[in-house]
Amino acid sequence: SLLIDPKPGRPSEKNAGPNASVDGYEIIDEIKKQLEAHCPRTVSCADVITLATRDAVTLAGGLRYAVPTGRRDSLRSNPADVNLPGPTIPVTDAIHAFEAVGLNLFDMVTLVIGGHTVGEIHCSLIQDRIADPAMERSLNAKLRKQCKAPNDPSVFLDQRTPFKVDNGLCLEVLRQRGVLRIDQSLGLDGRTRGIIMSYAKDNALFRRKFAQALVKMGTRRFLSGRAGEIRKNCRVFNNGH
Ligand code: HEM
Repeated sequence: SLLIDPKPGRPSEKNAGPNASVDGYEIIDEIKKQLEAHCPRTVSCADVITLATRDAVTLAGGLRYAVPTGRRDSLRSNPADVNLPGPTIPVTDAIHAFEAVGLNLFDMVTLVIGGHTVGEIHCSLIQDRIADPAMERSLNAKLRKQCKAPNDPSVFLDQRTPFKVDNGLCLEVLRQRGVLRIDQSLGLDGRTRGIIMSYAKDNALFRRKFAQALVKMGTRRFLSGRAGEIRKNCRVFNNGH
C-alpha cells in the first residue's frame, strides 16, 4: 500500500524512488475522515482511492462510470515491492509489464495515454525527448525554454488540454508532440498507432474505453473476504505497526 507512512527504520512504498513525486495524500485523509465519522470501518482506503480516481476523471471531463467496491486494505507496504516502468520504457517492455498484471495491449495503450491526458512531468525525465530531432519544432523550443528554469521544473504531459481528460494527447502524439517518450512511442509503433488514431478521431470512444480500462485495472488484483483489513487511518496499519 502506497498510503502507509514510513516510520524510522521501517520504510514504506512512499520511499520508493518512482513514487517520490506522488502527492495529494491529504485529500485521501480528508475523504476517509468524513467516511469514518459517518460509517466507521466500512469503506477501505483502497476503495477510497478507486472512487476518488473515478470522481477526478469525471470532474476533469472523462466519463462518469460505475466502479465495483469491496476491496480490503493490504497489511504490507515495502519499497522493494514497487515495480513501476520508467519514462523511456520501450513499447515491447510496456506490453509485457501490463500483461504481467493481466492487462492486454489495448488496455496498456488506453491506460497510459488516458493517464497522461492530465498532469505534469519533471524536465529531468524528458531529456531524451528534448534531444530528439523528430519532436515537433515549436514544442521543442518551448520545452527547452521551460526546462532551463532552476530546480527541475515540471511541464504538461498533454500540451493541448492539460487539465482535461480527453483525446487531446492522441492528437498531439500523431503530430510528434508527445512530451514523454512512451506516449510518443505509442503513436509511432505499428502495434499501437491504430488505437491512438481511433481515439484521436473519436473522443466519445476514448472516454468510454478509458473508463472501461480503469475499471479493469482496478479489479484485476485486490484483497477481499477476510484478507487484509479496513484501515481506520489510511497512513497506518490498524495494529499501529
Ligand atoms: C508504461 C507506463 C507508464 C510510464 C512509463 C509512466 C511514466 C510517467 C512519468 C515518468 C511521469 C512523470 C512523473 C514525474 O515527473 O514525477 C508520469 C506522470 C503521470 N502518470 Fe504515468 N506512466 C505510465 C503509466 C501511467 C498510467 C497507467 C496512469 C494512469 C492510468 C498514469 C498516470 C499518470 C499521471 C496522472 C501523471 C501526472 C502526475 C502529476 O501531475 O503529478 N501513468 N508517468
